[in-house]
Amino acid sequence: MASTTPSTQPDVRAAQLAAIAAAAGTPCYVYDARAIRGAYATLDRAFDGYPHAIHYALKANSTLAVVRLLHSLGSNADANSLGEVDVAMRCGFRPDQVVFTGVGKSAAEIDRAVSLGLLAINVESPGELDRIDQRAIAQGVKTRVALRVNPDIDAKSHPHISTGLKSNKFGVPIGEALALFREMSSRRGLQPVGAHVHIGSQITTLDPLQKAAQAVVALAQSLRHDNIHLQHLDMGGGLGISYDGAPVVDPAEYVRALVAATKSSGLKVAIEPGRVLVGPAGVLLTKVVDVKQFPGAKRFVVVDAGMTELMRPALYNAYHRIEPLARRDAAESIVDIVGPICESTDAYARDRAFPQVEVDDLLVVADVGAYGAAMGHTYLRRPLPPEVMIDGDQWRIIRRRQTLDELLALETE
Ligand SMILES: Cc1ncc(COP(=O)(O)O)c(C=O)c1O
Repeated sequence: MASTTPSTQPDVRAAQLAAIAAAAGTPCYVYDARAIRGAYATLDRAFDGYPHAIHYALKANSTLAVVRLLHSLGSNADANSLGEVDVAMRCGFRPDQVVFTGVGKSAAEIDRAVSLGLLAINVESPGELDRIDQRAIAQGVKTRVALRVNPDIDAKSHPHISTGLKSNKFGVPIGEALALFREMSSRRGLQPVGAHVHIGSQITTLDPLQKAAQAVVALAQSLRHDNIHLQHLDMGGGLGISYDGAPVVDPAEYVRALVAATKSSGLKVAIEPGRVLVGPAGVLLTKVVDVKQFPGAKRFVVVDAGMTELMRPALYNAYHRIEPLARRDAAESIVDIVGPICESTDAYARDRAFPQVEVDDLLVVADVGAYGAAMGHTYLRRPLPPEVMIDGDQWRIIRRRQTLDELLALETE
């Protein structure tokens, strides 16, 4: 597992983070380029020469410098919206390195995806199959498509980030896949090149991932009997990371399991990892703005970051490790660490043993590189925070803090 902190030497790391907080202000995201490189290399190496493509899932973090870094490492891209497709292009990806997934692609998105000639548009329904075919015929092209199958497998993750059950809106039931592949190969505008499965995110056991892989491999084998020959099997993303120190699947073991499941087919394996590549590489720096004790009841540490900067705790009750940048003493008390937003769900931690802190102390929220800044929003007219990339002892601002004027620039009075 990649390092969860921007430096292995605590004093150096603390000094660097303190310098960043002083220069960029708080709240502020900080990513460690070395941790991202390390996580990418672990996945890539584990394929051990087996034909594969790693499509970084931009939805985890699509800040340009992060996407460019992944591109420079040899990654491909997985986009979940037209915006992400365009970000991928801007960061140097060729269209044939991008897969495009999305449960409700608009006509404009389909039109542009077809005209770009992406590696694959992952088809989510029979209706969408039809719409893509029509747009491809109108443009006079044959467009590459993969079918997203829903294997009805429980990812055993949080219900809000599980996508592979038949009660979820994603893909087509795997039992209908054969008929839909036949349909796709009969269409003038479509070239079926792959099968796609993505059963959820933050998956911490191998079994569901392995089962999903086996299901698409079996599908590919039966397609061969129909003379439909795919080029890749896209196993999606979903590999979890350890937010709380509990054991998770080793990324190399995950890759080896995918290869073992796929080898008999000889097909190229594509994966769409997001969280595992960038999650542990990011921290959020935030400052204590108030400490208050309700008599005989709760003690609150109020910080200057909230659900606007980091949605995960409010959205999924997600756990993040939080530490003071400089510890005052060993004593701990039970506190809620809460944001400044007028919503009761705006809490990063509840009833957590935490060291003594005072107003203006800096706190470090760990493992926020994925689904942190990417989910940020401007509720209460809070401008988006800056983002910083550390590379060894160097660091640079990769997104400056939004100004209120920029936030209001789209509006008329
Ligand atoms: C289609 C698809 N691919 C890949 C991912 C990336 O998942 P993760 O960040 O869990 O690896 C997601 C996220 O849920 C997704 O929806």
